[in-house]
Amino acid sequence: MKIEAFDMVRMQCAYEREVDYDLSGSGIPSMKLSELIGTRDAAEAVFEVPQGYAPAGGSPHLRSAIAAMYRDASAENVMVTNGATEANLVAALRLLEKGDELVAIVPSYLQTWNLARSWGIETKPLSLLEDLDWQLDVEAIKASVTQKTKAIQICNPNNPTGAVMAAEQRKALIDAAEDVGAWILSDEVYVGAEREGTRTESFWGDYEKVLVTNGLCKAYALPGLRIGWLVGGKEILKEIVPYRDYIALTHAEPSDAIAKLVLEPDRRERILAQNRAIVQKSYGHLAEWMKANEPAFSLRPPVAGPMCFIRYVSKISSLEVAERLRKEKSVLVVPGSQMGVDGYLRIGLGLPKEYLHAALNRLNESLLRLEPLDIP
Ligand SMILES: Cc1ncc(COP(=O)(O)O)c(C=O)c1O
Repeated sequence: MKIEAFDMVRMQCAYEREVDYDLSGSGIPSMKLSELIGTRDAAEAVFEVPQGYAPAGGSPHLRSAIAAMYRDASAENVMVTNGATEANLVAALRLLEKGDELVAIVPSYLQTWNLARSWGIETKPLSLLEDLDWQLDVEAIKASVTQKTKAIQICNPNNPTGAVMAAEQRKALIDAAEDVGAWILSDEVYVGAEREGTRTESFWGDYEKVLVTNGLCKAYALPGLRIGWLVGGKEILKEIVPYRDYIALTHAEPSDAIAKLVLEPDRRERILAQNRAIVQKSYGHLAEWMKANEPAFSLRPPVAGPMCFIRYVSKISSLEVAERLRKEKSVLVVPGSQMGVDGYLRIGLGLPKEYLHAALNRLNESLLRLEPLDIP
């Protein structure tokens, strides 16, 4: 079966190591494990343990540590996966069948969207609107979710805008799902990476048919461990675990053991606080640059995550803008079209000040040279 390429990921894999400045990422710089965990604890957890297959679904300890972060959840509500990517994949494999309809928020991380399209499932975009500070229009939620809707894919906090869904929209979305019995697939990898304000509440516990995906890749800045998870009802998870038998059987035993240490409550909170400070600081670098320059773009400040989604004023497609920028200025950014909305670029922020400012200077020069949009 042919699948639709995940263009953003393909582009990053092809060029992120080739350019002078890579602004295409959406992660916080990763820490060394030795900075997070005592070497004795880590050695004991990994070197003194036989390296068999980790239990499919995760070790009881890790599942309990994850469950402790969710309202009224127990280990049976958790399934560990290879990154959030596998969590999203197995959820989609279980829920989506030909003839179904998927409603998905855009702009967003398009993994499930692309898979659904590859599988011949009808996909319907539900737009976050810049004029509403990247919130959904409540009437549009009501209109988009119909009896045909099998699942609604969201990413909250959102990649790429950094927006967190407001209470009114959240309620409208849950009500709409409940009315038609649709699943909510909630990718929450940026929960805990809020630049300001309180921690984003998980959709888990708000409605029965919710599957949450998350992992250590973003808010924890540990993507190399490849630990992700699904949180959901016991029955649906029992049905989903066997899908792993055809993917990678299970995840890596050393990562399971390290993740258990990472998620010990004190350490977990310390890591998240450290990473939030990085997100805040890196946004500060952007704000400082914007004050000192006349940017040829505009943006709504992200609430969470080390990235922002900028609007440039030109008729030229975001793919062409990004390609020109890469070829002429050796700066890599993600074109908005690869996240479902043209006319924007996603730029990553979790970077040292000098690097970010130098890259923004080149981005700005390039954008200033675009012919502006004719606005009557
Ligand atoms: C919203 C979102 N979900 C999932 C992933 C993939 O996560 P992982 O690295 O844990 O597989 C990413 C990676 O960028 C992401 O941005």
